[in-house]
Amino acid sequence: MINKIKYINISITNRCNLSCEYCDIWQEKHKKDIRLDNVRKMLESSILDDNTDIALTGGEPFLYKNLALLTELILKTRPGSLKAITTNGTLGEAMLDFLAGLKKHRKHLSLCISFDGVTKHYKQRGNSPFVALNKAVSIKDEFSDIKVKLKFTVTPINYKDIIPAYNFAKLNNFRLKIKLVENAKNYTNAIFNNSIFKFSKEMRNSIINDLSLIYVDLLELDRKDAYFIKKTIEFLSGKKKPEACSAPFNRIFVMPNGKIYSCIYSDHIGNINDKCLEDIWHSKKAELIRNKVEKYGCNRCVSYHGFSLD
Ligand SMILES: C[S@@+](CC[C@H](N)C(=O)[O-])C[C@H]1O[C@@H](n2cnc3c(N)ncnc32)[C@H](O)[C@@H]1O
Ligand code: SF4
Repeated sequence: MINKIKYINISITNRCNLSCEYCDIWQEKHKKDIRLDNVRKMLESSILDDNTDIALTGGEPFLYKNLALLTELILKTRPGSLKAITTNGTLGEAMLDFLAGLKKHRKHLSLCISFDGVTKHYKQRGNSPFVALNKAVSIKDEFSDIKVKLKFTVTPINYKDIIPAYNFAKLNNFRLKIKLVENAKNYTNAIFNNSIFKFSKEMRNSIINDLSLIYVDLLELDRKDAYFIKKTIEFLSGKKKPEACSAPFNRIFVMPNGKIYSCIYSDHIGNINDKCLEDIWHSKKAELIRNKVEKYGCNRCVSYHGFSLD
């Protein structure tokens, strides 16, 4: 029997107010926002697990004009399912208003604020790191029931900042989620093929060294994060074995134009504008991806798009 969908990641808009080096979304000409009727269609689908987790991302999710309506829809249809929102942390007023409106639902939510290190954040993301950090601190102070996390994307620009950023986050009681930059043609990198994705051997060794120290520390603090770091080290050192990745069996990633992926490194499996989620999930394309992963395994990425493994 086929699995139900346990994780939904929705890129709700491709609008963005920053211009990060490793992301093309801000350069996409046609601005798209997810349609509320399509979200309703997905939420009411019988192919969703009773405990499906939902994560919102973008573009910048706080630029989506129907965010309050979308959230209301999610929380009415599937209370407790909204688990994560990833943001660049720049739109303070919109974030505070939104969180105030969430009330009792805040306790289920992780707000992941992108922070790429004190010294290189500006070069990498085009704005001061202190904008995002100040927002993170004030949100944590104002809403004690919400989990605020910092999300660090490692690139050839900022790889030397991993340890300082980790220590900084720890000192300020934030968890730092560390993820490698990737060339995601179906998501963040639809336009350009940028040299920012290439780590030299020296860079890889330095990152492996730093992540190994963090791994030991995390074993005491958070075993799920430690596991993710271990997989990242294996990936960087070329030791990550092909494995039966669970993504095509239990996840979907929905784009603002309605395209649905079960793995963003494979072709999309359908579009919610044209078909119901059951048909998309049972489609030949979706089956082919599952069969391939089942037969050969996969070691192409260490991404769990939108989710932090908890
Ligand atoms: C695409 S952004 C969308 C949410 C929001 N605009 C933000 O920047 O946090 C989600 C996350 O993906 C990261 N990201 C962007 N481009 C990436 C890439 N090429 N490889 C890996 N992560 C990337 C961002 O740093 C951010 O943490
Ligand atoms: S990473 Fe986020 S903030 Fe940066 S350009 Fe992409 S969508 Fe915008």
